[in-house]
Amino acid sequence: MINALQADYGIPGLVSIVSGVNGLPKVVITHASGSSMEIYLHGAHITSWKDAAGHELFFLSRESWFAPGKPIRGGIPVIFPQFGGGVLPSHGFARTGDWRLLKTSVSDSGRVVVEMSLTESPETMAMWPHKFSLKLKALLDEQTLTVSYHVANTGDSDFDFQAVLHTYFYVADISQTAIHGLKGTTLIDSLRDRVREVEDREVIRFSGETDRIYVNAPDRVQLDDEGDRRTITITKTGMPDVVVWNPWISKSQKMPDFGDDEYERMVCIETGLIDNPLCLDPKGEWQGETTFSASSIQS
Ligand code: BG6
Repeated sequence: MINALQADYGIPGLVSIVSGVNGLPKVVITHASGSSMEIYLHGAHITSWKDAAGHELFFLSRESWFAPGKPIRGGIPVIFPQFGGGVLPSHGFARTGDWRLLKTSVSDSGRVVVEMSLTESPETMAMWPHKFSLKLKALLDEQTLTVSYHVANTGDSDFDFQAVLHTYFYVADISQTAIHGLKGTTLIDSLRDRVREVEDREVIRFSGETDRIYVNAPDRVQLDDEGDRRTITITKTGMPDVVVWNPWISKSQKMPDFGDDEYERMVCIETGLIDNPLCLDPKGEWQGETTFSASSIQS
C-alpha cells in the first residue's frame, strides 16, 4: 500500500509516503525552505510541524498509541462530529478514521499541499446514521502551516455536528508559557460545572489544570513559548470557538497514553465549532480554516 501511495502521490524532494509508527502510512512533507510536517492517514492526523531550522512546534506524547481504533495523543487530532464526551466515542470518530489521500501538489510559490478525505463507513453509520464527506487540506509554507477543514452533508437528512482542530503545541516549559488575545471573551469552565464567565486576563498563564472553551473568540490568538523564545500566532476563519487545555499533574497520571510529566511541555489551543453545533441540511457544507505562524520572540 505504501509503495502504491508513493507512486501515486510522492513528489521528489517534497512529498514522500513512508511507513510511520507501527507501520501506519505517513505523509512527510518538506518545504524548499526546510520547514516540514508529517501527517498520518489514520485520523488525517498531523503529528509534526517543524520550522526551517528544524525546531518541532507540535507536541507528541512519547506514550501515544499508534493503532487502529485509537487516537494519537499530540499534533492535531481532527474532531468530528462530537466534541468531548456524549453518545459517540470521546471527540467523535474522525480522529480514528481511515482517511484517504486525495491529492498532493506544489504551488508556483512553493507551498506544498496535501488533501485527505473521510466519508461514512458501516462502522460510522452504526454509531451515527448520517452520510458525510470530510476534507482536510494542509498547506505548508516557510513559516506557516494552514489547515483547512471542510464538512459536507452527502445524505438526505439534516445532521448537527461539532468540528475542531485539537492542536497540541510543544512548549519548553508550561510555567514560561503565555497566551494573549482572549481577554474579554466569554468562557465555559469545564472544571467548574461549565460556569460561564468573562476572561479578564490580558495574558493567560498556567499554574494548574485548565480546560476552558472560549466562545466566539477573537480570530487571532498568540502563544508565547518564552522558554524557547518562540511565538506562534494562530489565526482562524469560520471557527468561532477556542479551547485552552492543559491536564496538569493528576489528570496526566490518569491518561494511559500520556506521560506523567508531559503536561510541562505542552498546551492545547484548539479552534473550532463547539458551543453552537451546526445543523447541516442535505447538500449543506461548512468550512473552517486555521493558520499557525511561527517566529522568534524578539528581545
Ligand atoms: C480537550 C477537552 O479538548 O480534550 C478535555 O477540553 C479533554 O476535557 C481533552 O480531557 C482530551 O480528550 P481526549 O479524549 O483526547 O483524552
